[in-house]
Amino acid sequence: MNAIDVKNLVKRFGTKTVVDHVTMTVAEGEIVGFLGPNGSGKTTTIRIMCGLLTPDEGDGEVLGYNLRTESLKIKREVGYMTQKFSFYEDLTIEENLEFVARLYRLKPVGEHVARTLEELGLTTRKDQLAGTLSGGWKQRLALAACIMHKPKLLLLDEPTAGVDPKARREFWDEIHRLARGGLTVLVSTHYMDEAERCHRISYISYGKMLASGTVDEVIRNAGLTTFVISGPKLNEIADELEGKPGVEQVAPFGTTLHVVGSDKKALTASLAELKKRKDITVQPGETSLEDVFIQFMAGSKDNMA
Ligand SMILES: Nc1ncnc2c1ncn2[C@@H]1O[C@H](COP(=O)(O)OP(=O)(O)OP(=O)(O)O)[C@@H](O)[C@H]1O
Ligand SMILES: [Mg+2]
Repeated sequence: MNAIDVKNLVKRFGTKTVVDHVTMTVAEGEIVGFLGPNGSGKTTTIRIMCGLLTPDEGDGEVLGYNLRTESLKIKREVGYMTQKFSFYEDLTIEENLEFVARLYRLKPVGEHVARTLEELGLTTRKDQLAGTLSGGWKQRLALAACIMHKPKLLLLDEPTAGVDPKARREFWDEIHRLARGGLTVLVSTHYMDEAERCHRISYISYGKMLASGTVDEVIRNAGLTTFVISGPKLNEIADELEGKPGVEQVAPFGTTLHVVGSDKKALTASLAELKKRKDITVQPGETSLEDVFIQFMAGSKDNMA
């Protein structure tokens, strides 16, 4: 059974279609990354999947429950971490968790809270006010609150935004530990390194699902060619290349320039002159996930215009 199996979801706000025939499956125990530009419909899709929003069209099952008719059951078995920190800042970590435990009618409250504090390494901080926590610890509290009732599916909406690399690393180790225990995870993020820690990713743009698969599959299917240029006065070279046939992206990376395009022939031809120069090297490079996403974004803007 798939933990998430939804088809052709549509959600409109007024005249705007913000989720446009989104189809998605997530297998049990899988960690799937949900990526896409700001305002592309990630949060809205997640809220449909946890039973908080009713789709205008489409249907499907989450944890085997019908999205439209069994949303109460879905809510009980899903852990949803919202995009914004939503705890009482003037309560301690422990008090916040007690509050959540009561919402889910977990009994005995003390035992559930103590176990969760222990599991997420929060015990020594349990008396600290939530409002005084650093970003990383806030995220950990938020994760604790959404796994306390032992959900089968976690829906995490940008759980690590603004969190430092070490805390993000720990957060992701935790996610993988939970997934090994059988939990399924759908997690939205803007970070490429986090996408690479997922089993699979889905990319949504302005409501439309543009790509799904492993990171390697998504990169391969994008069919892009990348060259890395190094040498002096790269900014002048960048200006020169901009707008030439086949040159779709020009981006400085440290002391090199990455040039990306979907038409290999045209791109190679446009770089031919540069290749002849002795002070410059032009080498084939690996297309990154970021290159692919930038390409997607450019493409969607064209569609909108
Ligand atoms: N309740 C609402 N009423 C009207 N418009 C809404 C509502 N909720 C979301 N939208 C609009 O729907 C679109 C998609 O929003 P959503 O929050 O799902 O995007 P997102 O992919 O989560 O973006 P971000 O990466 O910035 O979090 C946006 O244009 C947003 O303004
Ligand atoms: Mg969002």
